[in-house]
Amino acid sequence: MFAFNFNKIIMPIFHGKAALIEFLNSVKTSNSTIGFVPTMGALHQGHLSLMQQSLAENNNTVVSIFVNPTQFNNPEDLKKYPRTLEKDTQKIFSLDTNIIIYAPSVDDIYEGKVASEDFDFDGLENQMEGKFRPGHFNGVGTIVKRLFEIVSPTNAYFGKKDFQQLQIVKKMVRKNHLDVNIIGCEIFRESNGLAMSSRNERLSVPEREQASIIYQTLVEAKEKFKTHSCNEVKDWVTEVFNSNTIFDLEYFEIADEETLTTCTEQSKDKNYRAFIAVFVNNIRLIDTISLK
Ligand code: PAJ
Repeated sequence: MFAFNFNKIIMPIFHGKAALIEFLNSVKTSNSTIGFVPTMGALHQGHLSLMQQSLAENNNTVVSIFVNPTQFNNPEDLKKYPRTLEKDTQKIFSLDTNIIIYAPSVDDIYEGKVASEDFDFDGLENQMEGKFRPGHFNGVGTIVKRLFEIVSPTNAYFGKKDFQQLQIVKKMVRKNHLDVNIIGCEIFRESNGLAMSSRNERLSVPEREQASIIYQTLVEAKEKFKTHSCNEVKDWVTEVFNSNTIFDLEYFEIADEETLTTCTEQSKDKNYRAFIAVFVNNIRLIDTISLK
């Protein structure tokens, strides 16, 4: 498929890995770099900020758009995941017409066997999101490894919004000796502080406004963490959400950034981060903040 801009062909969209690899080989030189931004589409400003960073730091930028079936533990979520390739393509090309888009089919990636590899992420996979989404990180590891094999990026960009995913990818790269730099990018937020997410579109206008409570609570938790214990901060956050009728807290955790193990007692030589998952009207929102 070709993308058109004012009736001019600007850049092919690759649906098959063979053609993509051939194209990348033709544009690569011995010291040029490829920046890579893997996504599942339904693009928003948060995704675009990753692409901007990649464009600024690399000779070529590849963006993948693929709703990866193996990372969905809930089949209904997979079915309902928005697929908006045309709109996504427009957003990408309005940023830069030289971005190389890879939008493969399930078969192009999984070649008839839709299954996850089993990874050992040294326990990172058992914390937070891992507890609530069994199998999710094996699916993420599987797709990211395959995409890295196809794209062979120099630098790959991941949002800190999914901080656990970022750490899982770094671990997978280290354990498999893959030659790629993993770059964590800052969270892009709406004007009220709500972390950008394709799920925000499903919130009603008042819900979206009131969802600022998530980031506000994280900012206050960070302040309290200076003078209170991990458990005291956690109890305070639980109380905030107990007294709120719209938002249901799934978890709030303070964890070591490296190992993601729960903080029981603050230690000076560790960097901590707060993580939160909240439900509003069956829509699950996550956010995180560094406590440093
Ligand atoms: P997706 O949810 O589409 O996110 C793609 C990338 O955008 C991820 O690295 C995510 O952390 C980042 N991102 C999302 N919202 C952001 C925001 N508000 N600010 C900054 N970055 C943000 O994450 C996935 O897809 C998939 O698991 C994937 C890695 C593509 C593997 O299938």
